[in-house]
Amino acid sequence: MALDLFSPVKLGSIQLSNRIVMAPLTRNRAGAGGVPQPLNVTYYEQRASAGLIVTEATPISAMAHGYPALPGIYTDAQVAGWKKITDAVHAKGGKIVIQIWHVGRISHPSLLPEGALPVAPSAIKPAGQAFTYQGLVDYVEPRALAVGELPGLVADYVHATKAALAAGFDGVEIHAANGYLLDQFLRDGTNKRTDQYGGSFENRARLLLEVTKAVVEVAGGDKVGVRLSPVNPFNDMQDSNPQALFNYVVDALNQFNLAYLHVVEGGIHGGGLSDPFDFDALRKLFKGPYMANLAYDKARGNAVIANGHADVVAYGVPFIANPDLVARFKLDAPLNEADSSSFYGGAEKGYTDYPFLEE
Ligand code: PHB
Repeated sequence: MALDLFSPVKLGSIQLSNRIVMAPLTRNRAGAGGVPQPLNVTYYEQRASAGLIVTEATPISAMAHGYPALPGIYTDAQVAGWKKITDAVHAKGGKIVIQIWHVGRISHPSLLPEGALPVAPSAIKPAGQAFTYQGLVDYVEPRALAVGELPGLVADYVHATKAALAAGFDGVEIHAANGYLLDQFLRDGTNKRTDQYGGSFENRARLLLEVTKAVVEVAGGDKVGVRLSPVNPFNDMQDSNPQALFNYVVDALNQFNLAYLHVVEGGIHGGGLSDPFDFDALRKLFKGPYMANLAYDKARGNAVIANGHADVVAYGVPFIANPDLVARFKLDAPLNEADSSSFYGGAEKGYTDYPFLEE
C-alpha cells in the first residue's frame, strides 16, 4: 500500500503513529519566570494525537529571549513545568520534542537581563520592530559576539538539552531557521564576520555544526532534529546564494545521523520564493527523514509522502484551530478556522477553546 499521512514512521529513535506533525508555534502564554503553566498543559495535551508535537520555540537562556511570555528550558522550575506537559502528552500516547532557541538580534534590551543589548554575528540592526511588554519598539543595533563567547553559547545549548531530557522530552529540535541566531550566522545578509565564523559556507555553518555536535553528544543523534528555512525573508533575512549554502549545510548535517531535518519551504509570512529554490535537492542530499513544512493541506501532505519528497509533514496554523487535526484529516471533516488575533498572548481564548469534532 502506498504511504500516506496515516502511515506510522520512525524518526531516529522516536516512533510516530502517523506522519502529521504539529509545527512549532509561538503562543506567548507561559507563566512568570518562563514556566509552563496548567493552561499550556491543556493546550499540548489536546493536540497529543499528532504523530509528533514540536513545541513552540523555547529560549535556552535568559539572553535567548526575544518576545513576551515565552517558556524557557534552563531553570529547574521550567523543567518541572514542562514535565507536566510531556507526561500529559505521553499519557495520551503522543510524542513531543522541544524546539531549542536563541533569538540573537531579534530581541530588545527590555526583554534581556539588566537591559543587555541583543547579540548577533555582526552589529547589524534588523529593519522593523520588536514585540516587547511595552508594545512595538524599534529594534536596536545588536552587539557582535566575540569568538571567545561562542563556547559559552554552545554550553547554553547543552544545558538546555540536558534540561529537556530531564523534562521527559522525546528529543530536541535545534532552531536554525527564521532569522534567529543560528540562521543569522548561516546567511550572509546578517553575517559579515571576518573570523572563522564568517565568510565561506564552512565558516558560516561552523556555529550550527558545533551546536549540533554538542547537542548530539548529550542526546544522541537519533533524538535530535534541525530546522532550516533557506529562503524565508522574515526578520529581515537574505542570502546571496541560498541554494549552495543550504546544500552545504544539509550535507554537513549528514555526519550526525539526525532523527530528522525540518525545512520551512518558503517565507512564513509570505515572500521568499522570488528566485527558484530546489527543496527536493535538500531532501535528496539528506540521508535521514525529511519533515516538510509550510502551508501544506491534507492533499499536498499525502502527495509529498507518496512521491517521496517528505517522510513527515508539519502543520502549524491548522493545529492552532484544530486540536484533533489528525481525526479531521482521517474523516475528511471540515476544519475550524484559525483566529489570528489570538495567536500571540492572552489566555484560553483562541488557545484551548477550539472545538473538537462531536463524538
Ligand atoms: C514569532 O514569534 O513570530 C516566531 C517565532 C519563531 C519562529 C518564527 C516566528 O521560528
